[in-house]
Amino acid sequence: MNGNGTLIHLDNIYTAYEGAAFPVIRGITLSIRAGEYAIVGGPNGAGKTTLLESMNGMLRLTHGSATVCGLDVRRQGCEVRKRVGYVVQSFFFDPLTPFTTEQVVMMGRYGLLGCLRRPGEADYAAVDRAIRLLGLEDLRDRPIGTLSGGQQQKALIAQNLAKEPEILLLDEPFSNLDLCTRDFVSGVLKDLAKKGIAVVMVSHAFDGLPDGEIRIIVMRDGTLSLDETCRPDEVESRVRKASTVQ
Ligand SMILES: Nc1ncnc2c1ncn2[C@@H]1O[C@H](COP(=O)(O)OP(=O)(O)O)[C@@H](O)[C@H]1O
Ligand SMILES: [Mg+2]
Repeated sequence: MNGNGTLIHLDNIYTAYEGAAFPVIRGITLSIRAGEYAIVGGPNGAGKTTLLESMNGMLRLTHGSATVCGLDVRRQGCEVRKRVGYVVQSFFFDPLTPFTTEQVVMMGRYGLLGCLRRPGEADYAAVDRAIRLLGLEDLRDRPIGTLSGGQQQKALIAQNLAKEPEILLLDEPFSNLDLCTRDFVSGVLKDLAKKGIAVVMVSHAFDGLPDGEIRIIVMRDGTLSLDETCRPDEVESRVRKASTVQ
């Protein structure tokens, strides 16, 4: 983090997929500070997932620079990913996946552990906290593939929280959740932002937002069409307006 609390700084970035002739996202400049709660909106194919994966160094920048947690994303992508949680948009666990919920959550610690060290007390404590926070206590010994989609989604969020990240990126985390679980998970995310974690979430669900200022970032056709803060009750109309071609 730098002096003014900036955790993510993208400076005119362009990102292309391997072998593609043109970059998918083009000329994005933005900064996100510790404790911000940011919603990334925009139509399908606009580049929202690509934006998140550019932030954590999973995709190659063809132009511009990205600094995350004070690290150069191009050169220190692995280090960045140890400090940034990323809950992916699509996942699938085969019913026969041979890992329990607890083991899946422990995988969040693997990057910090490295390949030689075995989990220690601090790792088990972080996993336990994450499991409790997401209300997964009763499911900890269940094979992950036998959980419902929503329960698996919560386990993946817990896995990323076990990492104790400075930034949490989430890609449409509410898509598998029933309304009640949505409210519960929104509450967890709000509390994380209050504790200083930057929460950056692709979402089309605008209820259950925190009371304070919400950052809205809208992508359209690979470029930034809106970047501002507003009240929670204004989010939906502003995202809607910025998502449609004028
Ligand atoms: N692995 C990939 N290889 C090539 N192009 C991709 C890949 N993933 C996404 N794209 C393209 O990048 C654009 C933006 O995709 P994406 O970031 O997934 O959009 P969104 O998340 O906003 O729906 C789309 O045109 C999509 O076809
Ligand atoms: Mg997407």
